[in-house]
This record gives sequence, structure tokens and C-alpha cells, in this order.
Amino acid sequence: MNENDFPILLQQVHGRRLVYLDNAATTQKPQQVLDAIQEAYTTWNANVHRGVHHLSQLATQHHEQARQAVADFIGAKSAGEIIFTKGTTDSINMLAFSFGEQFIHEGDEIIVSYLEHHSNIVPWQMLCNRKKAVLKVIPLRADLSLEIEQYKCLFTDKTRLVSVAHVSNVLGIINPLQDIISFAHEHHVPVCVDGAQSVPHIPVNVCALDCDFFVFSAHKIYGPTGLGVLYGKQEWLEQLPPAQGGGEMINHVSFSATTYNALPYKFEAGTPNFIGSYGLQVALHYVEQLGREQVADYELQMMTYLEQQLAQIQGITIYAAGQPKAGAISFNVANLHPFDVGTLLDQQGVAIRTGHHCAEPLIDYLQVPGTIRASVALYTTKEDIDTLITALKKSISMLS
Ligand code: ALA
Repeated sequence: MNENDFPILLQQVHGRRLVYLDNAATTQKPQQVLDAIQEAYTTWNANVHRGVHHLSQLATQHHEQARQAVADFIGAKSAGEIIFTKGTTDSINMLAFSFGEQFIHEGDEIIVSYLEHHSNIVPWQMLCNRKKAVLKVIPLRADLSLEIEQYKCLFTDKTRLVSVAHVSNVLGIINPLQDIISFAHEHHVPVCVDGAQSVPHIPVNVCALDCDFFVFSAHKIYGPTGLGVLYGKQEWLEQLPPAQGGGEMINHVSFSATTYNALPYKFEAGTPNFIGSYGLQVALHYVEQLGREQVADYELQMMTYLEQQLAQIQGITIYAAGQPKAGAISFNVANLHPFDVGTLLDQQGVAIRTGHHCAEPLIDYLQVPGTIRASVALYTTKEDIDTLITALKKSISMLS
């Protein structure tokens, strides 16, 4: 990595060097991705798939190469299993609608966990309300890991789907997917994995995980906003109806009947985000060139250092302390509101996130108004963490 690869990080904020530790919310973009987007709009922008002209064919080529790049990156068997969406939230909403139409009936049960992001709760809750189905929740142990024995007890002959995060966006803890998926499969129940917070930090292979669906967002892995991925095993996607109607997703339309396109186009109504997919392809290439294992190892070193340094500050509570984490760590300072700490950190050039992080059930469970969350990326340095720690100590002494 070149230290100038991320131009946004070279700026000052409030007269201080910017230390960006809000990567779980969104990551910054390398110059290569910025250049790719500029290049796309300046040299080959044209709508994909329908055009016989040169630019349209170039655009189509780039878009379909990007789909293959995503399939390769997550180890999918074929590009047909990769559906481009607007983001993780859109992917889960599409799946909830489509899977719900086909497989969920009154009295059926869907399992999620207590530490999900709202985007992996509310779409399932809406589906359950629509279909008079039941949402069941995997409880937490005292150390905030999932209570796997209880998870197993939630299964009945009405269980139709499990949907869980790979990595918690609040706590950064890595869920035991192998146990979760293998147990669900013993009961012939498919599993959807919310990989928004794992793909940027951990090498993911959907075939090795054997998950049935996997979703993530481009913007959390150095790609553009407004683009996401819904991976599904071909045998599942083939059974699901489209979630949206429009152009692209059809085979033939008449007023009496419409037939649908093949995978993955059946799920991609309208003009796709083909500039975004090109940006994502370049972002994934950027990560691959650095080495996915190397990035994961480096980030783990940063996370370990961060947790060690935080643990030395008096009055700090680290949530899920000592557990293996990826990307994010949440903490609070005794008697201080997270928002006040976050505001003072910002004044010192340090960007972290405070609040409920779109995971209110978990925050209610912790019985706090919110947490302070620091989250790392491949460009995070020890110096960034030292700056956070110094700024945090100063904020605490100012507020105490
Ligand atoms: N899902 C993003 C986060 O956790 C926005 O911050």
C-alpha cells in the first residue's frame, strides 16, 4: 500500500491530522477506485446489456467481469449466483420478500440473533407480520457471544430460515458460523449470512462456509456507495420468485403473461449500477494485490493493539473483551455519555462512531445509551491508535 493511496486521509480536520476510525460505517476509497469511476464516466459510460453499439458492449463487458470478480472473491461457484443490489440492506430486503413469497406461511419460524443490525431484523419482522410467521432470537451469553445451545433449542419443524451476522457491527465479535450452519443444515434449513462486517476483514469463501445466502456492501470494502451483493446458491435462487419487476429481469412480456430471465438477471430489474460494479471490481483487486490473508493479519495486529491500549485506561468498559474480533470494538467510559466523548474526539481530529449503531436490541441488552465504536481498515496504523488513545485520555480528563 502506498501512503498516498487514500487521498481523503491526507487532510486535516479541526487543525489536526485526520484519524479515521469509522470504517465499520464506511471505508475510504483508494485513488485506483476514484480513477476507475472517473475513467468509466469519461470513456465508456453507456447502458449495459441492451445495446449493439460499442460503448454499450464495453460497459456490459465491465459489468459482467465485475460480477465474475465478486464470485471469485467470495468463492461462489458461478457468476450467476451473484446478484447486484443497492447494498446489504437491499439484499436482505430482496431476500426476505422473495424467500417469503415462496417459502413462508402462517406459523413458520425464522431465526435471527440478538446482536443483529436492524437490516437483519426489520425485513424479517416485516415478513413475519405479513405472513403471520414468528421471529425467534438467539440469546447471548454473559460474554456477549451467541448462546449456541439455546440456538439449537429454537429449532422446530416450522423453522424455515436462519439469518445471522458473520461479524457484529457493534462488538466486532465473530460468530461461530460453522456450528450455526451445520446445525441448520441437519434440519434442512437454509442460512443467510450478513457479511457486511466480515468481507472487508476476513477472507470469506461461501462454499467453504456452505451458507445458502451471503450479503455485503461495496462501500464497506473500499468500493462505491449504492452497490451491494446478494449471493445465493443456484439451487435456492432458481426456486425464488423475482422481488421486483421491470426491464432486464424478463424473458418475454405480454399483457397476458410474463416469463422471467435466467439467473442472475431475474433479480436485477432496471438499469444496474454498472459504474459501481466496476468500482467494486477495482476495490477487490486492490485488496487482492495487498493479499487478503496479509490484510487480515495486519488488521488483527491493529485490533489487538487497540484493545490492549483501551484496556489500560481507567474506567473503560470494553464489550466482549478478550474475544476474537474483526474490524470493530465498542467501549464506554464510566459516567460519561458516549456522544460527549465522540464530540471531543472529533475536535481532536479522531473520527469514531457513537450511538446504537443500528442495533438497538443489543444496546438495550447492554443497558447503555449507546457505545463508542472504533473500527479499523487496512490503512489504520499504530500511530492512529496512539492518537485515539491520547485524545481519549484528554477527553476523559476534560469531561470528568
Ligand atoms: N451499518 C453501518 C454501521 O454499523 C452503518 O455503522
